Amino acid sequence: MAGNERLNRISERQDESGQLPEPGGARLICASSDLAEGGDGVRFDIEGQGETAPAFAIRHGGRVYAYLNRCAHIAMELDWNPGKFFDTDGEYLICSTHGALYAPESGACRGGPCRGAGLTRLNVFEADGKVYMRKG
Ligand code: FES
Repeated sequence: MAGNERLNRISERQDESGQLPEPGGARLICASSDLAEGGDGVRFDIEGQGETAPAFAIRHGGRVYAYLNRCAHIAMELDWNPGKFFDTDGEYLICSTHGALYAPESGACRGGPCRGAGLTRLNVFEADGKVYMRKG
């Protein structure tokens, strides 16, 4: 199984859990205050089946979102400068390599060389002023 497939399956399991957030059983990512609306993201790594992959969390529309830090065009990290995921208007996530644009609330391609392919979303939530990722 290719690395991308394995990591996508990790993400799918997290989305399918359907359980209420349990901070005690989730992984702490950062403080809620670390994520400003349309501001810098927080980078972190996820592990699964012996692999480590870069990921990031951002805030948009008052909510937190997280994705694998892997462009859908070429498997490169989006941020040339660490944490800089938004375009200048703070409207879209942008890949610094060739300018692919992604919707912050879904990771869907909104223009550029991603050509309809999106980011891989991770399952994060906020509780008690902290951002957590639900474990698979
Ligand atoms: S690698 Fe992201 S747009 Fe090409």
